[in-house]
Amino acid sequence: MSMKGKLGPYLTKIRNESGEYEILQLLEQSIDTSNPEKGEVPIKLLGYGEISIVFEILSKDLQGLAFKRLPLFEDKAQVERHIQAYLEYHQLLTEKIGLSIPPQDTAWVYMNEKKSKIALYCIQDKIPSETVINRLLPTITFDQLAPILEKILEELKKVWDFNRTNTDDLEICIDGQISNWALISDAKSKDGIPIPTGVTYIDTSTPLYRKSGEEVMEIGLFMKPAPSFLRWMLKDLAQEVVDRYYSIRDVLTDIIANFYKEQRPDLIPALIEYVNQFLATRMSDYDIEPLNEKEIAKYYKHDKFIWVLYMNLRRFDRFLKTKLFRQKYDFYLPGKIKR
Ligand SMILES: Nc1ncnc2c1ncn2[C@@H]1O[C@H](COP(=O)(O)OP(=O)(O)OP(=O)(O)O)[C@@H](O)[C@H]1O
Ligand SMILES: [Mg+2]
Repeated sequence: MSMKGKLGPYLTKIRNESGEYEILQLLEQSIDTSNPEKGEVPIKLLGYGEISIVFEILSKDLQGLAFKRLPLFEDKAQVERHIQAYLEYHQLLTEKIGLSIPPQDTAWVYMNEKKSKIALYCIQDKIPSETVINRLLPTITFDQLAPILEKILEELKKVWDFNRTNTDDLEICIDGQISNWALISDAKSKDGIPIPTGVTYIDTSTPLYRKSGEEVMEIGLFMKPAPSFLRWMLKDLAQEVVDRYYSIRDVLTDIIANFYKEQRPDLIPALIEYVNQFLATRMSDYDIEPLNEKEIAKYYKHDKFIWVLYMNLRRFDRFLKTKLFRQKYDFYLPGKIKR
């Protein structure tokens, strides 16, 4: 357990005298993942992703913190390896690359008496929800989005520049999707949209980076939420998804394709033009071929296939666990996501 950033003083409040995270233990014991806000510890959801929930704990002591729950680990060594990577990843992104990321820390608890399952909590300062960019998406115009996109591209370029120039044989990825950023802003335009002076990267719980070509994070963790006898089906797809983050062109394609999922395909042609312009002027030395709408659509179709397959395997896993074996289901499984 590290005490970095300004979270340390908060975290001492959730540990008891023997250093245990009682409130998180109680949360684990009582959480019903299909109804996470109804457990014994009062929480409010701030967001969710494919497998995790992000929430705040509604207690005076803990307000201002965002908890992301990852119920993925089998033993102490495995979770500690992940924490190690998570901390180093944060350090690389902030100190070596210069990204802005909220202060963060971790805590983990056993999920059962047998101590055969562990949930890791990645804890960050809570970002005011109106600055999380995907909040703006339903109504934003391209002209309002352009200055935000520019800031995001500048941050991504810092990562890519680092990858080209560092002498430690490090290759670092981030997931540039719009929902992973928050605005830094101290003024609003006339139409009420914050004017960005910068962007903060929030989705840091998947430390994707390679040292001397070796993936630091254990990629098998992505397959945990599927029935074990079907994990082989996901193995190649998980590797494919990981590899995409190491390709600049794929990361840019993914950012734009995600606007289909965000129900704003109308923005896509202008986004492509903007990104291509950025590639031509600010990244010409990278020699990246311009993006086009046809391949973005194709990419999205394939991406949708992967995630729908993943979702279905997970629903099946939940069915087996809860209906057949009458066990508790550990993961969060979002309802139908409109894609
Ligand atoms: N520190 C925070 N403060 C406020 N809201 C947050 C914070 N971190 C995350 N959120 C909300 O939760 C959502 C999901 O968070 P995040 O992107 O970290 O997880 P995810 O997409 O589920 O992760 P992954 O893709 O790695 O599974 C964000 O889009 C945001 O709305
Ligand atoms: Mg995310």
